[in-house]
Amino acid sequence: MYRTHTCGELRPENIGSQVTLSGWVQNVNDLGGMSFINLRDRYGITQLAFNMDENAALCEAAQKLGREFVIRVEGDVIERASKNKRIPTGEIEIKVSSFEILNASKTPPFTIEDKTDGGDELRAQYRYLDLRRGPVQEKLRLRNKVALETRKYLDSQDFLDVETPMLIKSTPEGARDFVVPSRMNEGQFYALPQSPQTFKQLLMVSGFDRYYQIVKCFRDEDLRADRQPEFTQIDCEMAFVEQEDILNMFEGMIQHLFKTVKGVDLDEKFPRMTYAEAMERYGSDKPDIRFALEFVDLNEVAKGNGFAIFDDAEAILAINAEQCSSYTRKQLDALTDWVRRPQIGCKGLIYVKCNEDGSFKSSVDKFYSQEDLAKWAGAANAKPGDLLLVLSGGLDKTRKQLGELRLHMGNELGLRNPKVFKPLWVTDFPLLEWDEGTNRYHAMHHPFTSPKPEDMHMLDSDPGKVRANAYDLAMNGVELGGGSIRIHDRDVQSRMFDLLGFTKEEAEAQFGFLMSAFEYGAPPHGGLAFGLDRLVATMGGSESIRDYIAFPKNNSGRDVMIDAPSPLSDEQMTELNIKLI
Ligand code: AMO
Repeated sequence: MYRTHTCGELRPENIGSQVTLSGWVQNVNDLGGMSFINLRDRYGITQLAFNMDENAALCEAAQKLGREFVIRVEGDVIERASKNKRIPTGEIEIKVSSFEILNASKTPPFTIEDKTDGGDELRAQYRYLDLRRGPVQEKLRLRNKVALETRKYLDSQDFLDVETPMLIKSTPEGARDFVVPSRMNEGQFYALPQSPQTFKQLLMVSGFDRYYQIVKCFRDEDLRADRQPEFTQIDCEMAFVEQEDILNMFEGMIQHLFKTVKGVDLDEKFPRMTYAEAMERYGSDKPDIRFALEFVDLNEVAKGNGFAIFDDAEAILAINAEQCSSYTRKQLDALTDWVRRPQIGCKGLIYVKCNEDGSFKSSVDKFYSQEDLAKWAGAANAKPGDLLLVLSGGLDKTRKQLGELRLHMGNELGLRNPKVFKPLWVTDFPLLEWDEGTNRYHAMHHPFTSPKPEDMHMLDSDPGKVRANAYDLAMNGVELGGGSIRIHDRDVQSRMFDLLGFTKEEAEAQFGFLMSAFEYGAPPHGGLAFGLDRLVATMGGSESIRDYIAFPKNNSGRDVMIDAPSPLSDEQMTELNIKLI
């Protein structure tokens, strides 16, 4: 028998019993007369004690054990002399009577403890060792619990888990596809699904009514802290529903998850905001509403003083950083450098300090009098002690930039408490967005999203103005999920493909299967998908999803542990009939 108990289990009640434990040697502490080993497994750490006077041979053998050796020990549970209040087993230790090495270990490349000395790259290369660490295991436990509770909730609501294929057809919409060559169909390729979107709609046509799947999705796009090339969705679809039914159902799911997993009661009703309002107030379609710093429009009060940058700007927008007028020159320069980084792309940053004595000091004092600046402060409701930060330029761009600055200030001022959770439904997204690069419209969500019936009349005349029955759930500045009511009418779907610039032939070739399904009694339907990785990371209070994935990729899409991607052998290439150029 390898073990009677785990390394996290023994308590004072067990004192006097004989036990067998197995685990990894975390460290060996040699104090001369006594030696101690911390034995670790998934459940915790138990101290092993060896006494030189009582059993010198055993004690000496124990001193020779290296870190990460796998051992089995037998011994008695005794009360510990110096108790460790920080661990649950800290009141006892094992007086070891014998042990056996089950497997030796090379010295690990970094310390496998809660706080490690290993850098990111090294830990990624030895991810299987990093995964032995308590805090990393804790994150995967959280993920497991979220997935389990998701299944429980959806099962209780009659959702059926149906698997959909991983080898599908490449489609031009959305991100780039990862493709897989077909050996049996020379010169042809499968694509890995960016999401099971069309399949879940087909399941509605098939009458499944409520579908879900916790499913891997693949997108070849630029990576960030919250984006991986393969990630997991909680993908859902329902028939005979309107937007309201879907929002209620999944509000219930998120409440259930926070309650059961974190013991957190979220608001009875999640707040809602239209896309237009979110952009106007926060410059983001996933605003972090844990803090205010809302946008103030200074167009009326700041134009016409001969300051060309403002006079020529479409938008002059500010945020009021309360109680920040004491910002030093150095801090303001750092903020200016921050907005000038290529990722943000501002030319500069204008500030107005609202001094405690009621006067103002700005970076544009040459153009604006104290009275002028008092008007700005009035528009922003700024009080003595506050600091206005102002950006200007084209409307969309300035909103985005100020939205980023707002989050940066939120971080700087400690307003983004990771233990506070603020969900927000963002609704009424535009159906289409204009793409300067390709000079055509793209579906903002995806091409199967239905336009709002009241906006249908603008579909041909002013397509950019048409709103969609589409919604996202944002939380703490993260887009956790999104979805829409779908088009279920062949003609509307075909008009949509027209608008997106597909020829009839292209639409038929890409999505003919869906359009023909729509001719056989497609019910009204809609759904959404949550990013499981993002949901779990947000619940864990982190912005990076990588820590919540057992074997993630790095920012170049590489798995440095298995060293993928990698070239294929000549034989494989020949078999697949592929030649590199
Ligand atoms: P969407 O493209 O908005 O919708 O994706 C749904 C959710 O998936 C997560 N997500 C990602 N997570 C990590 N890495 C990525 N690269 C990544 N891309 C997306 C986000 C996002 O909100 N089929 C539709 C859903 C529907 O309409 O039902 C879809 O895939 O959390």
